[in-house]
Amino acid sequence: MTYIMRWLIIAMAFTICQGQLSSVLFPGFMNTARNIIGTIAGQPLFNTVAKSAGDLVADAVFEITRVPVAVARAVGVSDNTPAVINDNNIRGISDAILADYRAGLKNRDAALSVGDLIRKYGYPLEKHETVTDDGYILSMYRIPSKGPVVFLMHGLLGSADDFVIAGPENSLAYLLSKEGYDVWMGNARGNKHSRRHVEMEPSNARFWDFSWHEIGCWDLPAMIDYVLNTTDTKSLKYIGHSQGTTSFFVMGSQRPEYNKKISLMIALSPVAFMSNSRSPLIRLLSPNAGLLYPIFKTFGLYEFLPDSTFLRVLRKLMCDASPLSEVMCSNTAMLICGFGFAELNATNLPVIFGHVPSGASVKQLTHYSQGYLSGDFKQYDYGSQNNLEKYGREVPPSYPLEKLTAPVSLFYSDADWLSHPDDVDKLYQRLGNAIDIHKIPHSQFNHLDFLWAKHFKTLIYERLRKLLKAT
Ligand SMILES: *[C@@H]1O[C@H](CO)[C@@H](O)[C@H](O)[C@H]1NC(C)=O
Ligand SMILES: *[C@@H]1O[C@H](CO)[C@@H](O)[C@H](O)[C@H]1NC(C)=O
Repeated sequence: MTYIMRWLIIAMAFTICQGQLSSVLFPGFMNTARNIIGTIAGQPLFNTVAKSAGDLVADAVFEITRVPVAVARAVGVSDNTPAVINDNNIRGISDAILADYRAGLKNRDAALSVGDLIRKYGYPLEKHETVTDDGYILSMYRIPSKGPVVFLMHGLLGSADDFVIAGPENSLAYLLSKEGYDVWMGNARGNKHSRRHVEMEPSNARFWDFSWHEIGCWDLPAMIDYVLNTTDTKSLKYIGHSQGTTSFFVMGSQRPEYNKKISLMIALSPVAFMSNSRSPLIRLLSPNAGLLYPIFKTFGLYEFLPDSTFLRVLRKLMCDASPLSEVMCSNTAMLICGFGFAELNATNLPVIFGHVPSGASVKQLTHYSQGYLSGDFKQYDYGSQNNLEKYGREVPPSYPLEKLTAPVSLFYSDADWLSHPDDVDKLYQRLGNAIDIHKIPHSQFNHLDFLWAKHFKTLIYERLRKLLKAT
């Protein structure tokens, strides 16, 4: 049974991989294969025979990646290929980084909750909750103050923790608090602080049926309304990282009435257009994005689990067996978002690993992968048939970025795996009210450095602070 299943998945995956032709050439085959998988998966026996759904999908991906052409296409063969970790690119620095990392292993901050961390460093803390219109219960952390309100929103696989785990001197939330701001940190549905719903449990597959589209349409409006109401103000300043910018762009274009509630939006590593993204995972999923989701769905695999065999496969693909790559590749967020060594504070890595990743749905990832393939910033693609039902058209609608009238300031960098300068430039041209665009003057600055860089203060905060003051 397991064998048949695996063969079917591989066959499906493989045909799609060979240039998206299968649905044209073999429309019947795809449906048949899906039906068979559905039937088999529905049998009680399946659950006892199959290793696990995640393992099956992983095996299938593994098979695909053994095909050199597919690998080349997935992870890119040009100079754009991310620096996978191997002896060549870490020779010389490896020992020093490992020594720093090991020194950091004793740091007790790695095991402290976000609330305990904030209190440990002497800041007041409040925890708040709000419920979205579609029933998700979201937590927010606040370092209260009488100053203007700043709302921080994390990226993919992140949480409020992201803004306090760079240590007491370098964390954005602390820096803003010292400056007098009333700091709020949001948590999107599905991350470790927001795994509740008025009706559904996270064990319920429907709980995970969302991407950053829903985060932008429901979570951000609910949290922003709550913050404005609680602080009795009319508008706030919003700082987003990565998916915290994607979801903002969704909100600003889908629910334009929220633009007037934002006096300034600062986008750290903005992600909207994805066609130049260098993340191997995003690329690897993309030729199969349309395929993988139905498979994940068939197996009820909705939550993106950091320990899945799927990621073990990715690790194999990207990392060799050196001690340093074992450390770096052990963390999913690092694998997906990429990292550089130039601005990496290795002593602080154990603290970061203690708090990241924080949970996401598979759909969040596949939605990004669709963007890599389509080159457009648009709603989730369910396949032409289902799109007709959902959107009344075969192709999902693009997000109307011109409706986004809140002032937006963009920070980007050359070496960012997810947010490529050309894609950021496209975004800058399309946004209704982009007021500023700034390239970090550091050639190796990567996606996660926007949160935890050694020189965060000089490379990011100084400019960010001026922008906040000026608005
Ligand atoms: C706003 O705050 C008041 C009291 O602080 C509360 O009664 C009301 O329900 C809140 N409204 C929203 C939309 O949260
Ligand atoms: C690096 O991390 C350590 C441990 O968290 C911290 O004490 C130190 O201040 C950090 N260094 C920089 C430059 O941020």
